[in-house]
Amino acid sequence: MELIKKIKNKKELIGLPDFLVKEKLENYLGKNKIKLPLKEKDEKIVIKEVRSKLREYVGRFRVKFSSKKRMEFLEKEKISELLRTHSSTKERLDSESYLILKKIIAKMKPKSILDLACGLNPIALAQKNIKYYASDINMEDLNIVKLYFKKKKITGKVYVSDLTKEKNFPKTDLCLILKTLDILEKGNYKFAENLIKNIPCKDMIISFSTRTLSGKPMNRPERTWFERILEKINYKYDKTKTFNEIFYIIKK
Ligand SMILES: C[S@@+](CC[C@H](N)C(=O)[O-])C[C@H]1O[C@@H](n2cnc3c(N)ncnc32)[C@H](O)[C@@H]1O
Repeated sequence: MELIKKIKNKKELIGLPDFLVKEKLENYLGKNKIKLPLKEKDEKIVIKEVRSKLREYVGRFRVKFSSKKRMEFLEKEKISELLRTHSSTKERLDSESYLILKKIIAKMKPKSILDLACGLNPIALAQKNIKYYASDINMEDLNIVKLYFKKKKITGKVYVSDLTKEKNFPKTDLCLILKTLDILEKGNYKFAENLIKNIPCKDMIISFSTRTLSGKPMNRPERTWFERILEKINYKYDKTKTFNEIFYIIKK
């Protein structure tokens, strides 16, 4: 639909799937009792409002690089530069977080990994001897991950999925949900609990940022709400803190 194209015509929104844009558009039109076709002045408002809803999905994760530049990094195998085009992978590279995370995963010896809301993280962790399932809502990031997997002959699957709706997850040895759980359905702890319970993997690593938006360390980096959920559903866990991230290492 022409309107969907117009809404997506922003650098940061181009990677979002049409089905998500359509859903947000229909919600907005329904809530405000607006009928199609739109009058010119309404169209501007609708586009602006739907874009603002969609920005909740792309957040501030993407460091400002064009798709062309990111592809160039991939083609030239400038992997660190590529990983630095996403704030989460950049923060891990610029601290000791990847060293620590990789050690934790190596100890677990997984033969398969499910990385949910993965961003570019699979590019930092995937290896030939591990089947890697990578999903996200952002198709632009997924496309880069897909091309990287093809180049490096990594097996598994790269697929688009909206975690707020997904109910079927592949069963793997380890599941990762890094720096995402508290941005999905903010404050809806039941959603987080159901999501974790639905994932059929025995081991999980779930992480959260320990810095505020301005980069200051949080007074209480632990997520007590999350620990309460884990205790309630009887999942055992350890935690490890790095400069900017807290990892919960969970065993069902
Ligand atoms: C802070 S980034 C973390 C990326 C990656 N997990 C990492 O730590 O390197 C959050 C990710 O969640 C994804 N995301 C946001 N909403 C989502 C949703 N409803 N379903 C799936 N992925 C989503 C974004 O596209 C983004 O890649």
